[in-house]
Parts: sequence; structure tokens; C-alpha cells
Amino acid sequence: MFINFWYPACLSEELTERPLKVMMLGCNFALFRDKKAEAHCLSNTCIHRGGSLACQGDAAPGKVIGDNIRCPYHGWEFNKDGDCVKIPSRGADAPIPPKAKIDAYPTQEKYGIVFVFLGDLPEEERPPLLDAVEFGQEGWAANIQTYNLKTSYQRSIENAIDPAHNEFVHPTHGFSGERDDYVVPKLDLIEEEWGVGFMTDYESSGTPDEKYGKLRDKATTRAGSGTFGPSQFWTKIHPSGKFFMHQYTYDLPIDENNTRVFLVNMRNAGLDDEMGARLRSRNLIVAQQDIDVLDEVEPPQTPRDITKEFMMPADSCIVKYRDHIKKYEKNGWRIDVPKMNAERASGKIVHAIPSPRRRTEDNWVLDETPLLPKS
Ligand code: FES
Ligand SMILES: [Fe+2]
Repeated sequence: MFINFWYPACLSEELTERPLKVMMLGCNFALFRDKKAEAHCLSNTCIHRGGSLACQGDAAPGKVIGDNIRCPYHGWEFNKDGDCVKIPSRGADAPIPPKAKIDAYPTQEKYGIVFVFLGDLPEEERPPLLDAVEFGQEGWAANIQTYNLKTSYQRSIENAIDPAHNEFVHPTHGFSGERDDYVVPKLDLIEEEWGVGFMTDYESSGTPDEKYGKLRDKATTRAGSGTFGPSQFWTKIHPSGKFFMHQYTYDLPIDENNTRVFLVNMRNAGLDDEMGARLRSRNLIVAQQDIDVLDEVEPPQTPRDITKEFMMPADSCIVKYRDHIKKYEKNGWRIDVPKMNAERASGKIVHAIPSPRRRTEDNWVLDETPLLPKS
């Protein structure tokens, strides 16, 4: 898992007037909305004595007071920047010590999703978010869906750029391995600053959905996928010369072995709600075919050593994706998961992902999530 990228924390509709506790990269975060309904994200652990800011229990719920979030334990209040603005036990006018601050993370809401930048890079150095370019454009309609995987986000990304699985995993994307002359079609590789992908022409049996199937006008479908950063990918599906589906997928590593997938599905035909509902259920059927296989893959994380797998030319994009991953590791952005888990298991340490303020200020109460050294 890597710091210094944008991650999808929740759907916009899931963040109401109550704070929301979300686990990302193995750490807990408190999301809340201010009076203008703008979303904010703080490290969830109160620096006083460890209260959970977004405590979910009904007896002691976390609370938003005006523009601030209030710890349910002793009522300390923190603003969107993570500064403590009230310590009730000291009286109304008592000064607040400068060390009374917690990590706050840049947040943006787009495509019906709340995205959080989990890392300490200053704004001008941050990797961008994968752009769902057609979102909001005339002639395009969107579906936003989520589902969970009991495996690492990396398995999910590698599955997306794996052209050989379609024939076997998705009955409508090939012929279920029934053809003796089946080979993976020629891939047109796409290499970009933040990722790698391909487009190709798949022969397939086609969708059983009558209405959606009518939008297809040839035996092959031009389609492909590409990665963006460690945990985002795009997919383009062109069943005809005119009908395009472009999908933008943002994976949330809940922890190293569990993933929540946020899918923004754009289409330029069948823009009505009825077609939206049909595509929604088709997407879930296809996603479930992947889930059924991915949840059983072992180990849930990709092996660190490539000799522990047997790669084929059809896996070339996956090998190139791992080269990108190595770059992020060299930057010093990879979380030292074994160390993080061992310290957490001691029951005496809770971590915070370093936020941008840690670059310029010291005096933080919580330990930083341990990272592998830069090389
Ligand atoms: S633990 Fe949060 S106010 Fe005391
Ligand atoms: Fe798939």
C-alpha cells in the first residue's frame, strides 16, 4: 500500500450530518461535513487519550458542532485543518497548546465520491486523480457503483489489465474456453506517465441483454484497460463504432487484504434511467464473476518475488504495472505493512498517515505510519 495518492473514501451520499469512520490503508479516518456541507477528513484518533472521533455507537456518537468535529470522550473540538479549537476541561477562554493538532488530509468530491489525498506531498507535487473526462458532458450518462473484494487492491488492478482472463471468467466476453483455436488477441500497448494499459479486439459471444445487445453492431468489441497510479484504472469498451462505455475505477485498499471498488461507468447511448438500471445490474454480474475468482486467489497480495509466479506474454501489462509500483516504492511512498501490523498488534501504538503539515511542522502526538525507506 502506498501513501501520496488520492483514494476514494466513501460515496457522497454516505457522508451525512454524522461523522463517518472509514478505514483506508489500514488506518482509521474521520470524515465529516461542515456547515456548507463541504467534506473534510482527519485522522480518527483523538490525541487527548485516544477517543474515536467518528465513533459510530449510538450511545456515544461522534458529532459535528458547527464547522468542527467533537470527540465523544471529553469533548475536544477539531477544525477541518486538524487544529484543536476547544478543550472543555480547561474552561472557555483557556489557550489551546499548539501541539493540540491532528493530521488533516486534502479532500475533494467528484463523480459522487469523496476522495482524500493520503500523504504528505505539497499540492504542486501530488499525483493527479484519474480523470473521468466524460462525466457531466452532454451526450454521456453515469452510473456509480461499489463492491468489495476480500483480496488486495493490487490483485484487482492486475485483473483489469489481464486480457487472458476474459475468455474464461466472463461468458459474454469470450467463449468460455470452448474454442480450440483461442489465443489472446494482439495487444496495442499504451504507456503513460502514471500507468500502462492496452486496447485490443475481442471476439465474443455477446451480452444476453436484449436492449444493450442491440447497441452492438459487429462480432468483435474494441476494448482495453490501463492503470493509473497503484490503485486506479480505466476501461474502454466499444461494442460498435458509435456506442462507447468508458469506466473509471478507483480502488480503496481498506487494508492490505481487503478492497472496496468504486466504479464510475460512463456511456454515450441508452442515456435513460431504464438503460442505466440494466447496465448497473450487468456491471454487477460481470463484477461478481471477477469477485468469485479473485477472492480465492492465493496469496491475497501479489508475491514480492516474480519467480513465485509464472508470467506469460499476455501478462506483459502486469509486469509493466509492477515497474510503476517499484517507482513509487523508490520514492519512499510504500507502507511498511509488516512493521505497521506488528506495532498495531502490540496494542500500544496507533499510527497516522503523514499529512502535508508534517512536512513543515513538528510536534505531533501520534506516530507516523512506518514507510519503507526511499532508495
Ligand atoms: S479522548 Fe478525545 S477528548 Fe479526550
Ligand atoms: Fe474481469
